[in-house]
Amino acid sequence: MLSVVSSMANYKKSRLKDAALKRFLSVVLVTLFGVLLLIVSLRTNTTPALDGLDQDLSGSDDILSINEKVNLPKQNDFSIQLEKRNWLPPRNLDLYPKLAKDHITIVLYVHNRPQYLEVVVKSLSKVVGISETLLIVSHDGYFEEMNKIVEGIKFCQVKQIFAPYSPHVFTDSFPGVSSNDCKEKDDAGEKHCNGNPDQYGNHRSPKIVSLKHHWWWMMNTVWDGLKETRRHDGHILFIEEDHFIFPNAYRNLQHLISLKPNKCPDCYAANLAPCDVSSRGEGWNSLIAERMGNVGYAFNRTVWRKIHRKAKEFCFFDDYNWDITMWATVYPSFGSPVYTLRGPRTSAVHFGKCGLHQGQGQSAACIDNGSVNIQVDDTDKVANIRSEWDVRVYDNQPGYKAGFKGWGGWGDDRDQQMCLDFAQMYHSFNTSLAVMSRDFSISIIPLL
Ligand SMILES: *[C@@H]1O[C@H](CO)[C@@H](O)[C@H](O)[C@H]1NC(C)=O
Ligand SMILES: *[C@@H]1O[C@H](CO)[C@@H](O)[C@H](O)[C@H]1NC(C)=O
Ligand SMILES: *[C@@H]1O[C@H](CO)[C@@H](O)[C@H](O)[C@H]1NC(C)=O
Repeated sequence: MLSVVSSMANYKKSRLKDAALKRFLSVVLVTLFGVLLLIVSLRTNTTPALDGLDQDLSGSDDILSINEKVNLPKQNDFSIQLEKRNWLPPRNLDLYPKLAKDHITIVLYVHNRPQYLEVVVKSLSKVVGISETLLIVSHDGYFEEMNKIVEGIKFCQVKQIFAPYSPHVFTDSFPGVSSNDCKEKDDAGEKHCNGNPDQYGNHRSPKIVSLKHHWWWMMNTVWDGLKETRRHDGHILFIEEDHFIFPNAYRNLQHLISLKPNKCPDCYAANLAPCDVSSRGEGWNSLIAERMGNVGYAFNRTVWRKIHRKAKEFCFFDDYNWDITMWATVYPSFGSPVYTLRGPRTSAVHFGKCGLHQGQGQSAACIDNGSVNIQVDDTDKVANIRSEWDVRVYDNQPGYKAGFKGWGGWGDDRDQQMCLDFAQMYHSFNTSLAVMSRDFSISIIPLL
């Protein structure tokens, strides 16, 4: 296909006649048709060797059949522009042409708190080993100030992705607000407005649902969409725009991941920080297995496939928080406790004081005096996990679990449907084509 694209370029230069164009087009179409047939046959035949870790994709019920539609909302020009940027190669390839063989990809998901992001990026710049890996920054919405900070990163390969269906990108249609949407506790029948209320009678608020949408879109895109990561067979670490990362985080995580199979076969993940976000750790001489936390969690593709298979549980649960949704529905549906492994001293701190989606604009007050005051001791600058340590297990920790009904905010059919569509978008016939085209060249799309 690459040669098709380059011969296309030559063709343009040499200005051949119409007939040549037609011949060329038919070559392109026939080739594309061949590719489509190939995709179809790959998707329908069970070929376990092909996808490796992905093998349970084929024939499993987490994948709708090829004929089922993915009806993602109609995009606007801006969201299309954003989506195109997602297929650009990482930055800093000149400085860091190669990733380390066993690298742990880092995904940083952000909204719009530039003062926070600056702190996080500064902390990442001091992480030992960071230059070995790829940092993906996933943006919920488009904000110049946030971009500038990311564009300034020089300490590793960086790839920016933008959630093209972020409610922040749609000013007058779903997933943003449309003029005829019900608001707050409107009665849809009486007001003739659109929307389904949540379990507490409230209609959707785009700003609030954007968090869960972004997380789910990002997970699907990183694991199954991006060509940089969709074949990554190691762990991926997820952090947020208000997580301060200690210099030893990356090396500690590498230790935890290598110890996990033997020390804690029941652990699904490794965490940089305790589940209790106010704790800095116990300081014991042991590893700790506890319930999954939401600060600095890393897991592999096997675990992602398990999560992805629970798309319905995730998308229909009436809570706008992705993490509470996971604790209350997805993890309990695995059938056994979902533990994570971590060290006895934290390697990441959640420093946000303001709730998410506050603290924008004039938000200096969210961080005291414009910087965070997090103490980093000498022991936090070097790997401080020992392989001879045993594992202490916390059983029955408090927190959200199966049976919790959810905080609401997620009752609208359209949000639930878009969420399901995100789970399908890289697995349906249509988008397989889209992903593949993106790999070749964006310029080939207008040809069709
Ligand atoms: C593919 O996408 C088009 C337009 O977006 C849609 O009309 C069609 O039904 C989709 N086909 C499948 C098989 O999903
Ligand atoms: C991924 O992690 C899970 C949970 O720790 C583990 O059971 C599985 O063997 C791992 N998969 C690979 C391919 O390492
Ligand atoms: C900000 O800095 C000043 C001077 O260093 C200090 O007196 C003040 O307590 C700080 N404010 C906060 C909220 O930490």
